[in-house]
Parts: sequence; C-alpha cells; structure tokens
Amino acid sequence: MENIVTTVVAISSITGILAFLLSLANRTIGDYGEKKIIINDDKELIVEGGDSLLSTLIENEIFIPSACGGKGSCGYCKVKVLEGGGQFLATEKGYVSEGEMEKGVRLSCQCKVKEDMRIEIPEELFNVKQYLCTVTEIEDLTDKIKRIRLELPEGEQLDYKPGQYIQILTPIYRESDEEVYRAYSITTPPSSKNAVELFIGYIPEGICTTYIHKYLKEGDKLNIIGPFGDFQYINSDKEMILAAIGTGMSPIMSILRYMNENKIDRKVTFFFGARTRPDMYMMDVLAEFEKTMKNFKLITCLSRPTETCNWTGEVGRVTNLIEKYVKDGENKEAYLCGNPSMIDSVVKILKEKGFDEEDIFYDKFE
Ligand code: FES
Repeated sequence: MENIVTTVVAISSITGILAFLLSLANRTIGDYGEKKIIINDDKELIVEGGDSLLSTLIENEIFIPSACGGKGSCGYCKVKVLEGGGQFLATEKGYVSEGEMEKGVRLSCQCKVKEDMRIEIPEELFNVKQYLCTVTEIEDLTDKIKRIRLELPEGEQLDYKPGQYIQILTPIYRESDEEVYRAYSITTPPSSKNAVELFIGYIPEGICTTYIHKYLKEGDKLNIIGPFGDFQYINSDKEMILAAIGTGMSPIMSILRYMNENKIDRKVTFFFGARTRPDMYMMDVLAEFEKTMKNFKLITCLSRPTETCNWTGEVGRVTNLIEKYVKDGENKEAYLCGNPSMIDSVVKILKEKGFDEEDIFYDKFE
C-alpha cells in the first residue's frame, strides 16, 4: 500500500513539474518577439513572430492564396522560403513536390515565423487586394448552383484575367464559428471591373457554400480577395479544347465571354458534362455564342439522364466526349476545369492523343 502511495505521489510530482516546464516553455519559447521578413530581396516587414507565415503576411495585407483557411489541406498557399522557416513538416508533404522542396517551397500556413526570414512570392500578389462588395443579384441556375453578382465599392476596380479566381471571406454565422476563405472562379470577362459574378455550387456541410445558399441575401456585404490564379486565357492561334463539369464552367465562361467581346475567332470547342437535364445551365448564353462566334462549338453530355430529361444528345462523361471528338493534339491547347478525377482522366486522354503537357491548362476543384 505504502509503495502504491509513493508511486502515485512520484507520478503526480513528475506530471506537475512537466506541466510547469511546458507552460514556462510556452511563455518563453512561444514569445518570439519582432522578426524581419524580407520579400523578393526588396520589401521588408517587421512583424511579431510566432504566427504562421500565411497569417503574418495577410495581416500585412499581402494576400497569399488559401482555400482551406490555413488547415494545410488545399496546397494553395505555397511560398518560396529562402532563409528561416525551420524544418519542412510532414503536413506539407502531400502538396509540395520534391523538386519544389529543393527550391525551398513551403506551405505558408504550416510554416511559423520564429526567426528572420527571406522569402520569394510572385510580384502579382502585391496587386491582390481585399474588397468589401455588395451582393446585388442572386439567381438559382439549377437547384444546386447559384449565380451571385458582387459589386465592388464605389471607385474600386478589380483587374483580372479570364480564368482567374477570387476568394470569399465567409463570415461567422449560425452554422459556423470561424471565418474561412474559399476560392471561386470569376465568370465575368475582365471588362467587368466594377462587378464580378460567380457560380457557386452547394456542397453539403461546406462552410462557404452553405452560407451562400442558405443565408446570403441581396444587399448583404461580402469580403473578397483577389485576383489569383495561373489558369488564364493565353493569346495564341492554337485551336482550343475547353472541358468542364458542374461549376467548372465558371472560368470557361469568363474565357468565352472575353473571346466573344474581343471577336477572337480561334477555333474552340467546349465540352460540358452534367448529370441530368436540370443540371445544365447557361445553355442560352452558350447557344448565343454559337451564333456570334463563328468558330465556337458546344458539345454536351449527360451522365445520368432520366426519362423526364427527354435527352437525345450524348450520354456519358466528358471523358467520353474527348475520346470521341478530339482527334489529336496537333496545334491545339486545352483548358480544363472540374474535380481532380475528371481532370486526371482528361489529361491522360489528351496526352495519349498527342497533346504536349505545356498545352494543357487546368483548374482542379474539390
Ligand atoms: S492555406 Fe490551404 S494548405 Fe495552406
């Protein structure tokens, strides 16, 4: 009995000492003080250390892309860390390739500012700004996809390229107690600088999509940050293959609107796939493009048509359309937007047909 009491007392004492040391460490080691971040060997920030590099940069109005709210699950927030930043973490492995790792690429949400740092970011990120927009239109395009129109504050303009995206800062609301950023492609052409439109699909339990679909009203304010993204229309004379499913139509719509407005008459075929007839949307706009753009062709398919669809068109997936209609990769480039499995399958088919990897551009979304 005496032995048991002695053991319990010893364990309690050790636990107490460890807890004390831990709290001491938190108070001392956690207090990193002021640190210097040199960006692109040009700009210098003096910041309070201890937070993630992503949050620290955002606090200083340098907006690095982030679609998962800093949870390390989107891979958008890559930054080249040339000095400082500590050890590469296991949480970064799935998103940073070995080649990138060798160049110092890190997920800025995983990497803490504990020492002075030297980093490199794309210059265009200095043009990314936050805008408090007004929601001026909300429309149901299907029972799961809404179109929302956001007007920028008076006198402000968003300069973006066809295909780029913005991030919405979802506020705290009844079903979510955290603010999160989510990325959405812009559907309007770059000429629409004072207002942008987005197609937003409903994802069950998605924090931002639930907010947009269930709570957002016309007249509400919404913070956006942008523009972001390397998926953009490229000027060339190559024939274009466009392919999308669901809300993947968003950046493609911006590209087509841009081409239509600027009377670009490159040969372009848009392959679009949906499940059923009611899931097809913007068909009137696309039909209009077929009249105004003499080299534009739309080819659609349904993967699960029901009897009520009265569908006489193609049945199957976008991959089947690509297999059937795209003969080869000769002088062609492809722009793809959809979920990872759709993109991976289409890229594989295009490569088999002879497309060069550099001529395939894609935007994957979950
Ligand atoms: S913000 Fe998503 S992985 Fe860093």
